[in-house]
Amino acid sequence: RQVLVLNGPNLGRLGSREPDVYGSSTFEDLVELCRSAGREVGLSVEVRQTDDEAELVKWVHEAADARIPVVLNPAAFTHYSYALRDALAQRTAPLVEVHISNPAAREEFRHTSVVAGVATGTIAGFGLYSYVLALHAIARLLREEG
Ligand code: DQA
Repeated sequence: RQVLVLNGPNLGRLGSREPDVYGSSTFEDLVELCRSAGREVGLSVEVRQTDDEAELVKWVHEAADARIPVVLNPAAFTHYSYALRDALAQRTAPLVEVHISNPAAREEFRHTSVVAGVATGTIAGFGLYSYVLALHAIARLLREEG
């Protein structure tokens, strides 16, 4: 079964971007990690990243129309994009919100997620392993659905 792993702004710069917060692994490392974690649980994982809100919204529409489960790191859009939230509200397949860092332990503006209320659940604070946990959660949900 297909799963989309969607990433918002600045996540393409993993590895060089604030490594004290986000670690030294690159976006390419993240792509590999997600693909191999997917393979282990029988999911075909496609990883995408964009800095563009409109493009991210378009991908969410695509996932909604095809009922494709989504792992989403909305990055800074997490905290203010009602357009993204409204797009996500249209899907019916599982959605796991992920964060590399733990936004609740950081600046005040990161404590609000406008996405969390339309997600199946949220995983944050485990570095890139947050994505692995999210893929395991989706595999389990799909098994339960049968
Ligand atoms: C992030 C947390 C956000 O607050 C931040 O804007 C990001 C990354 C994370 O994965 O920890 O870009 O989503």
